[in-house]
Amino acid sequence: MKKVLAILEGDGIGPEIVREAIKVLKVIESKYNHEFVLKYAPFGAGAYFSEGSPFPEKTKSVCDEADAILKGPIGLAVSEMNTIPKESRPELGALLPLRKRYDTFANYRPVRLPKELASFSPLKESIIGDGIDIIIIRELVGGIYFGDKTEGPSTGMKYAKDECPYTDEQIRRVAIVAFEEAKKSNSKITNLHKSNVLATSRFWNEVVDDVAKGYPEVSCTSLLVDNAAFQLVINPAQFNGIMLTENMQGDILTDQAGGILGTLGLMPSVCVGPKKSYAEPAHGSAPDIANKNIANPYSMIGSVALLFDKCLGMGDEAKDIDNALFEVFKKGFVTRDLNDGSGKKKELSTSEFGDMVVENIKNS
Ligand code: IPM
Ligand code: MN
Repeated sequence: MKKVLAILEGDGIGPEIVREAIKVLKVIESKYNHEFVLKYAPFGAGAYFSEGSPFPEKTKSVCDEADAILKGPIGLAVSEMNTIPKESRPELGALLPLRKRYDTFANYRPVRLPKELASFSPLKESIIGDGIDIIIIRELVGGIYFGDKTEGPSTGMKYAKDECPYTDEQIRRVAIVAFEEAKKSNSKITNLHKSNVLATSRFWNEVVDDVAKGYPEVSCTSLLVDNAAFQLVINPAQFNGIMLTENMQGDILTDQAGGILGTLGLMPSVCVGPKKSYAEPAHGSAPDIANKNIANPYSMIGSVALLFDKCLGMGDEAKDIDNALFEVFKKGFVTRDLNDGSGKKKELSTSEFGDMVVENIKNS
């Protein structure tokens, strides 16, 4: 299969973890006889400084012409970010416009920890039990992130307002993605909401319940998001299956999930749109550890696997990558974020980790 991929390396640790993902792309390319045409383009805070825009026009054309996009994390240290005008900062000036441009409404964020790796988690092994295997499906282009924002007035009592709109269509399409996924994998759905306070949550549940009628074989229960945050720590495995959330609740819970796994370095993600999708890790650009060859490239490489599986019809390739990633840990190797200092773990650099994933793929 031939695929054109736009490569947006991003900021901070972005370029070094993207480099490892490219190594993995190359080995998959030769093992499965694919052709990946890689088109690099600037994106993020670095692009603002070098091109005058965090999402330059030429990057938009590269992305428009690509079959899919690989994007590293964006953002620099606070002191540098403060020198950029608000609307040109990489979140508001690049990331949200990228999501909007390709309407990437369904964000898959798997939360996986097999029981052999329970020691990665700050939770007790007994809590991890037989392992965690959840996919959080987060709505990504609606709600408070994209609602009108106002600040004012210039004189008198100041205020700020973020609106949180959701339409039937916006909720329905992501709910359908969750139900289809649950049906395919024979798993249950936990639908999260804050309907005891928010009108958008009451409406969200109404639409989810309506979609559920079309899937009598899928079990779906709804749970208040604050309770879900508590339950996730007390007994995460009870949610094994799909968790469905709106945009902002999903943002918060997926970081919490990374904490449960022991590191955001274990949080890959893919953002799926009707025509185009992009892979991005759920974590930030960690400028404090950039260029030290110590970042964990798992999330970036795992995001490529998700893109293959969910968007490019390359399920076998995705499994191959996922197995190769876990194989590294099962052999007792970790990156620095997962090294507990016990002296029992063998620490790998970013590039050594990528090399080992490549070896595992070659040998599988
Ligand atoms: C994420 C990030 C983004 C979000 C930020 C960088 C705008 O935290 O992808 O989870 O809030 O969606
Ligand atoms: Mn986030």
